[in-house]
Parts: sequence; C-alpha cells; structure tokens
Amino acid sequence: MVAARITVNGKETPISPAAPHTTVLDFLRERGLTGTKEGCAEGECGACSVLVARPGVKKPTDWVAVNACLVPVAALDGQEVVTSEGLATADASGAPAVLHPVQEEMAVRGGSQCGYCTPGFICSMASEYYRPDRCAHTDPADGTGPASGSEHGPNGFDLHALSGNLCRCTGYRPIRDAAFAVGMPAEDDPLARRREQSPPEPVATAYVRDDGAFLRPGTLADAVRLLRERPGATVVAGSTDWGVEVNIRSRRADCVIAVDRLPELRELHVGSDRIEIGAALTLTEIERRLDGEVPLLAELFPQFASRLIRNSATLGGNLGTGSPIGDSPPVLLALEASLVLTGADGEREVPLADYFTGYRQSVRRPGELIRAVRIPRPLSPVTAFHKIAKRRFDDISSVAVAFALDIEDGTVRTARIGLGGVAATPIRALATEAALEGGPWTAESVGAAARVLSAEGTPMDDHRASAGYRSAMLGQSLLKLYARTTEAVPS
Ligand code: FES
Ligand code: FES
Repeated sequence: MVAARITVNGKETPISPAAPHTTVLDFLRERGLTGTKEGCAEGECGACSVLVARPGVKKPTDWVAVNACLVPVAALDGQEVVTSEGLATADASGAPAVLHPVQEEMAVRGGSQCGYCTPGFICSMASEYYRPDRCAHTDPADGTGPASGSEHGPNGFDLHALSGNLCRCTGYRPIRDAAFAVGMPAEDDPLARRREQSPPEPVATAYVRDDGAFLRPGTLADAVRLLRERPGATVVAGSTDWGVEVNIRSRRADCVIAVDRLPELRELHVGSDRIEIGAALTLTEIERRLDGEVPLLAELFPQFASRLIRNSATLGGNLGTGSPIGDSPPVLLALEASLVLTGADGEREVPLADYFTGYRQSVRRPGELIRAVRIPRPLSPVTAFHKIAKRRFDDISSVAVAFALDIEDGTVRTARIGLGGVAATPIRALATEAALEGGPWTAESVGAAARVLSAEGTPMDDHRASAGYRSAMLGQSLLKLYARTTEAVPS
C-alpha cells in the first residue's frame, strides 16, 4: 500500500509522522500554513476552513469548504486541499503576488479587521465563488437568476455559504458586501479549470501507528469484514461529531474506520414509490442532488448546523450517533423513513420509528452499518420543520418539530409528526397524530391538538431551555403551521 499523502496547494506531502488523530488543521499549521486558524476546535467558528476537491454535483469536481479542525488528516489520504495561502497567485520567489478575487474584495471592502477569521471566510467564500451553478441575477421578473434578496447577492452568491463562519470584530456588512461583489471565475482560473477533471479517487488507507490506526476500507465488503474483526472500532463518516470528541474531550480511539467514501453508501435513487439516499452522501450533496424533490428535507437543510458542517456531515452519521437532538430524525420520522442496515448477516430494513431504543441507543447491532435511508412516496403535501434554537443558523435545537400532513377537503387524512429534544430519543407525536387524523383542519380542532402536542414527550430543564418552554414551543409549532396554511390564528 502506498504511504499516506495529501496534496496541499499543489504540493504532495507525506502524512507521516502525524498521529492518526491529528486534524488537518494541526497538520497544516505544523507545516507552516498558519493562515488556517483555530478558533473553537469544534466546528462552530469556521476559522479553520479549507477547500477540498470533492465529487461535484454539476461538474466533475466541486471545491468544498470543510472545517479542518474536525477532519483527521489521515482521512484525506490521496486528496487535494487548498488553503487560503494557495488561493493567491505566487510570484517567482513563491511569495503571494496577486490576490485571489475573493481576497481582493475582502481587502477593498474592509471585510477584515484583526484578520483572525479572515482566511476561513476566504475559503468558504471561494467555495461559493466556484460553485458551478452560481449564476448572476439578471432580472427579477424573468426568473433567469436567483432571487436577489438579503441572502442572495446579485452575483448569485448564497450567504448560507458563510453560515459557519463567525467574525468578532469586523461586523458582517462589509463581509457581505465583499461576497456580493465577487464576479465569475476567469476562463484561465486554475481552480475553475480544475473542476472539469475528476477529483482524486478515494484510496484505501491503512495508517497504523503505535498510538492508533486510521483505516479506510475500499469496499463495503471490506468494511463489514473490518468491523467484524474490530468490533470496538469507532466508525466515522464526515467526522463532525467524532472530531469534537477528539478535540474537546480528548478522546482517542485505538482504531477509526472511515466509511464516508464507500460507493455503496453514496448512491441516490429517486423512484416512483420511494427515494433512497445513501447514508454517506453529505447533506450538501443530498440538498443539491434532490433540488427540492422532498420539500421537508429542503426546509431542514438550511437549518442544519452550517454549510461547512453540511459539506461533511451525513445522514448516516446523524442517525448513527443516536442523539436525541439531531436535526434529521424528526424530519425523517415525519416522512416515515426506514433505514437499511447492512452487516455480516446481510441487509435488513428497520422503520426509523423502531430504530431508537434509548439515549444514544438503537437496534443497530455491533458490526452493522447504515447503508441508506428510504423515504416512501407519495409525500404528504403539507410539511414544515420548526427548529427552535437560540440562533437561526449554526446552532443546536432546544426543540425540533417536523410535520407531514395530508389535508383533503378540509379534513386531516393523515398526520405524521416527528419530535426532537423532548425525550431520550427522537419520537413520533402519536397522541397528536391521532387527535388530528380524521378531524377538520379548523382553528378549534387544531387548537385542541396543539394542547395535546404540548404534553407529548418528557421535556427536561437544561442550559438550553426549560421543560415549560419546550412544551410551549411544541404547541406553538402546530399553531404556526395552521396559521401558515390558513392565515388565521386558532384560539
Ligand atoms: Fe472553529 Fe474549526 S476552529 S470551526
Ligand atoms: Fe477579527 Fe473577524 S476580523 S474576528
């Protein structure tokens, strides 16, 4: 097997002697690329953002911005990374001579004061700059470009690209001005041209040292075999959860097995009777490939952490950790999704409603992987996802509620409601579903069902919210949905 290596700003670099748990951030900084900063080390500030060449949605390669503080460098064996230093064009001596267009706009529009956050903003901005389907807004009336609202620039720049980047001193207006001022990449822009070729193939990695091992199997069969041989191994996909454990809680694993590039876990099929989503597709890939096909998922994605996290995080990871406050389970419960689990004994399908068995526990057996998520069709037409959190983006929910309702001639035919943050596991609001089904969609009956919803689960007091607040938010979420569908507020 070839020694693990990574290409950084066009230069191939061996990963050894980094420890298996060493993050991309520490690896870069130890090699003098100190533009990449550590702010929080848990995926919340974006100061560590770098670009990685990944399989593209509209072109062979996308330049994807990720949190370097969360990804083990061994996970990028064979891959290409560009840092803020690599964006400027160097002169003959190697010193940056010509700023990249996003660096130039940040400089001239005052988008940087102390500069600590700036390289991270630059990389997130560059990822959006190179998004192949970003197109300049031409005319609000003819629909030829994206809406030019507060979150989209006239150049098609989607500000959600920066939802994972925090700045303490500049203020966001000059940063937004810079984002909305960048043009389109020039024909001879090397990173724009790079998009036309395939990204590096994932390589099977066995990075084994005395202090641990990082293994990337090449096939699902190899992964299943490895899991049987090493039942105590830590399985990671985007590492957005495990990376926090490593950095903040100093956890170490004897063996980490990465499954995020397994082809069998990265398929997406849209059929007439169901949609099957590979467990290792990133949330950004799902969002862009489904392109609104599942409206409830489309509503979830912008509220799930930040673009930086969504560029790495997967549905398999969000469900595999079994967290009661993950954002995807309430939505997938409302969609009546099921999980395809695969292991040495073959494959089985488990309804998500039967998957969670206790706090961070599930029916997934040791050695089993989540291969895919299945969503049955047809989809219910009235859907909503309400995430109650302290910040609009990049935050953890206090309560999350997802609705999928079929309302015909003013009567609720079916109601599926998924809840997060009100019990030891994500749950269905079964009593509320029963209260709604068969009844009229009127202010009176919805008001009564909202009172039932307020009493679902066993919400707790904690540092995010009180139990009383959580209960109140449950009821309010149904009233809000009713108001949206009728523009009348029930009593
Ligand atoms: Fe804050 Fe990585 S250091 S997100
Ligand atoms: Fe100082 Fe952003 S410029 S933190």
